[in-house]
Amino acid sequence: MAARVEEQSMTNVSDYDYSNFYYSSGEDIFAILDPYNQWYGPARSEGYYLFAQPMFTPPLGRIELEEQLHHRGISLLNLSSYNYLGLSYRPEVIAAAKRALDQYGLGAAGSPILSGTMGIHCELESAVAKFKKKEAAMVFPTGYSTNLGLIQGLLRPGDWIIADQNSHASIVDGAILSKANVRFFKHNKPEDLEKKLKQATGKKLVAIEGVYSMDGDVCRLPELVEVAKRYGARIMIDEAHSAFVYGENGRGVAEHFGLEDEIDIHVGTFSKALGGQGGYVAGSQNMYNYLMGFARSRFFSCALSPVVAGGVLESLRIAQAEPQLRAKLWTNVAYIRRQLSDYAVDVGESTSQVIPIMIRNDRRMMHIAHHLQQAGLYLQPVMFPAVAKHRSRFRISISASHTTDQLDEAVSILVRVLREEGIL
Ligand SMILES: Cc1ncc(COP(=O)(O)O)c(C=O)c1O
Repeated sequence: MAARVEEQSMTNVSDYDYSNFYYSSGEDIFAILDPYNQWYGPARSEGYYLFAQPMFTPPLGRIELEEQLHHRGISLLNLSSYNYLGLSYRPEVIAAAKRALDQYGLGAAGSPILSGTMGIHCELESAVAKFKKKEAAMVFPTGYSTNLGLIQGLLRPGDWIIADQNSHASIVDGAILSKANVRFFKHNKPEDLEKKLKQATGKKLVAIEGVYSMDGDVCRLPELVEVAKRYGARIMIDEAHSAFVYGENGRGVAEHFGLEDEIDIHVGTFSKALGGQGGYVAGSQNMYNYLMGFARSRFFSCALSPVVAGGVLESLRIAQAEPQLRAKLWTNVAYIRRQLSDYAVDVGESTSQVIPIMIRNDRRMMHIAHHLQQAGLYLQPVMFPAVAKHRSRFRISISASHTTDQLDEAVSILVRVLREEGIL
């Protein structure tokens, strides 16, 4: 594919995407760099490559970005940040992070198993365990490294991990790293999970997510749990996008379905609803003790910054003390859903605060993303390899901190651009 790209002059940068640059001819692993950069350079300077644009504000409803086309700051409506409860910039959270900075300094300066465990990490782990009503919770530097360390730490070659087909890359990568047998069941299909479990002999882990991050749909937990239990599999649920959002007390989709005790391993992140960084595994004390010595992504890496740990502790306190934040988030979600539905915008299977705007055409994504940005809306294009090639979309993340005016304006821009692009 890339060889063909090399031979052509690249007249239209929006005709290409990452998928054109996986392979190159020749003997040198660097052979792919030139063709890629022939696309990347113009795509960035012409304002079509809209990834990793620097932001100069907190992830508020309106943000300042440096736009790549004219290298100037622009103000955009932001429906792209995961800051579901608006906690990342709450004054109390910032003050708590500053207190931790004053007490501990910037970094942990060591692996958690050596010198990197500080008092604030222990406080955070206890607070998460208490919140999740589990014996213990282990904190990792990111949500990604949580799944990596958990899955690699527990599974061995010959074991089985059977994960939903739409699993996050961290689950997939953890499975690969563990060298266990990996199978994927059709997305949210208990009958296919059963088919895969029948073929697996030996120790089994079933991996599911509370809310799927690309489609915003909720797992069919009762049926999936019933099947997994019938086949003697352990169950992990990653509540990255559902913890602090779902459930009467914010304990996630497992609480929502009343199945917390049926699930062996509860995973979550601090980077979404809590507006911080880091991840956790909550479960038994025995699992905690074991992972301490076997989760390589944790013990071969510096512990979470104590500054972040301090901020997250406060976010966690607020998320529990202010259920009205969750209520406001759900009011906002219902409000924007109604509007999108009135305009017949295709939101796929979403029922949550994660709302995809389905475009289903990779080749048009960068062009439409550019158009949306020029019209004043910051929406992230989501394309292969994050989703299948025929399932490209823009992804809206709603926050409790969005105002009704911001949501109205965002929908009006979105609908205008989609109409001009012939999508609506
Ligand atoms: C389901 C799921 N798990 C894990 C992660 C990784 O979390 P983090 O970004 O905190 O590393 C994400 C991130 O989007 C996710 O969606």
